[in-house]
This record gives sequence, C-alpha cells and structure tokens, in this order.
Amino acid sequence: MAGRAKLRAARELGREAEEFLRLYHGEEPTAGDLDSRLTAVRAEIGDTGTYHHTSAELAFGARVAWRNSNRCIGRLYWRSLQVRDLRHVTEAEEIAEECATHLRIATNGGRIRPLISVFAPDTPERRGPRIWNEQLIRYAGYRAADGTVTGDPRTADVTALATRLGWPGGPHTAFDVLPLVVEGVGDKPRLFELPSDAVLHVPLDHPERPWSSQWGLRWHAVPAVSDMCLEIGGVCYGAAPFNGWYMGTEIGARNLADVDRYDLLPRVADSLGIDTGSVRSLWKDRALVELNRAVLHSFDRAGVTLADHHTEAERFLQHLDRERRKGREVQADWAWIVPPMSGATTPVFHRTYEDRVLRPGFVRHPREAADGASYA
Ligand code: ARG
Repeated sequence: MAGRAKLRAARELGREAEEFLRLYHGEEPTAGDLDSRLTAVRAEIGDTGTYHHTSAELAFGARVAWRNSNRCIGRLYWRSLQVRDLRHVTEAEEIAEECATHLRIATNGGRIRPLISVFAPDTPERRGPRIWNEQLIRYAGYRAADGTVTGDPRTADVTALATRLGWPGGPHTAFDVLPLVVEGVGDKPRLFELPSDAVLHVPLDHPERPWSSQWGLRWHAVPAVSDMCLEIGGVCYGAAPFNGWYMGTEIGARNLADVDRYDLLPRVADSLGIDTGSVRSLWKDRALVELNRAVLHSFDRAGVTLADHHTEAERFLQHLDRERRKGREVQADWAWIVPPMSGATTPVFHRTYEDRVLRPGFVRHPREAADGASYA
C-alpha cells in the first residue's frame, strides 16, 4: 500500500476500533478502563497498521456479530456462542484439523452446540487464511456432460474446483461429503478430506412411510458457515467458521425441495399417491408438509437438535422483547426471517422490521471469488 493509502486505512481502522471498544465497554461492566484501552489500541495501530483484540473482546465481538445477523431467526441464544480463539493458526493443514475438531465439539453427540472457530485475521501486510467451501459440511454436486447433477447442484462449482485441484471424488452418491478447500497464509488452496467421525449424518424417514431404505436420504447435523468474514472493530477474520443448529425448514423446505437443489417434491408426492397433474391439487404444498414432517421426525429419532419453524418464530419474538428491554432495536430482514413454508401461520410474518446493517457482523467479500478463480 502506498503511504497515503496506508494512513487513510489506519485512520479508518482507528475509527472502527473505537466504535467497537465503546460498544464493548458500554455493555460489559467487567471490560476495564475504556480510555487506557483506546490509547493502547491507537498506539498499536500507529506502530503496526493494525491491532490485536483481547480474547474477551474477540468473544464479545463474535457474539454480537451473531446478534447482528439480520437474516437469522435463531438469535435468542446469541450470548451462548462458544468461541475458539485460534488466531495463531495460519497454515492450511492445521486449519483443516481444527475444522474437524470444531465439528466434533459442535456435534456433541447430537446435542448441537453453537460454536465459532476464529483463525488468523487479515493484516495490512497479508491476507489471512480462507476456507473456500461455503460450509464445513456440504454434499458434492457432480455435473455430467449433459448438465445434469448427481448430488447437490448448489455445490457443482466447488465440486468441479475440488476435482481440478486433484480430488478423485467420492463414491458418487447424492450425499458425498466434499473435501475442505483451505487456503493458508501465503499458500495456494489445498484439499483435505474431513474424517468421517467428524461428520454426523441423519438418515431421513417419513414417520408413516419408510423411505430411507429405498431413497437413502440424509442430511448433515451441523450447518457450519465457513465463507463469511467475521468483522470486529475494523479487523477482518476471513476464516471463522460458525454454527448453530438447523431449523427443519432449511432442509425440508429448501435444500431438499427447491427445484434447483434436490427437487424432491414430485417424488414425495408420487410416493404419497397425490395427483401431480394439476397445481390446484396443491400437491407441492402437501408434499412439502410431509417432507418437513420427515425431517423433524428423523432428527428427533436420531437425538439431534433441530428447531421447528413455529417454535423458532416464537423465540424470535422473545428475542425482540428481550433486546428491546436492553434498549436495542433488533434489525431483521423480513424475507429471510419468515420461514419458507406456512409463513403467515408464524408470528414473525405479521410485522415489519428495521433492516440496518450493524457491526460487528458476518460479511461476504465478493472480490474474493475472482481472486480464487485464478487457481481454478
Ligand atoms: N440454510 C443453510 C443450510 O441449509 C444453513 C445456514 C445456517 N443455518 C443455521 N441454522 N445456523 O445449510
């Protein structure tokens, strides 16, 4: 960076750091003296162009980033997020190992624990590590020459990328776990298979009509988003995978139902003997309900934490209440908060929300996809 740009970046960082530290000290009585902390951080930025968060600042920042996730309905429990401070980890292989450890801790035998693992941040000198997969666990999507996809069409590009990087592929089922594609500091992206004991799958069955034997349906227990940057006080943690637990509709009304995902509604309707000849039979709606019953039933049977959209919507209203009592107005994106089925049967439908973007937060850096393409 040229001298003047460096100065501007440092000044901007100073402002964002101050805003964050004021928030932290304002909310946490145990935070200590604000003024001396501000002085120290300003000096550090002056010397090095960046600054280090204390572990307490990091944990607070990560929790508030969840609290500020306008698209997340599950924010009532934002304070319970467990934070793994792995800022000393920069190298791809170690990141991959820690991701597997993350999944084991988060899975917890089925009692899912909300967890974030924070790896080395970006600095003015160098970009920090990145995980190219959108989630730690995703099912591959193998695109055939005729354009059809075996598995999850959503991951077709990252599957092709992994293949170009040397992944031999899995057994070509519809539910092969993708390897992690990890870019360590100053390194090219590298592939790592997740050890099978780090990945819990839930076999899916309908409570009255056993499908699993014929269809082999399953979904993974832990949704761990891994391609967003955790931004705290102007510092970007580009590799910071985090998870909560699933809400059933994410799987049953989107992943398995969307036409450009697993597209299962026609098959479910057929198996239920519903006439798919006319949309006015509401075959899609009826299949959707049965598919979602299957998801809830199967996770319950497997003893794996899974929210349902009715309960989670109630909890979100509790969250709004609780936050308002703290003097904070919850920001939310209506189109994401309202569940993808039976929207108006849940209370989150019948109101509006402010949708301002606050920091700390989880953000996407669009520029990076282009950087990444040069390896592909
Ligand atoms: N919707 C995404 C999926 O189906 C997961 C996003 C995060 N979800 C969560 N419950 N924390 O895989």
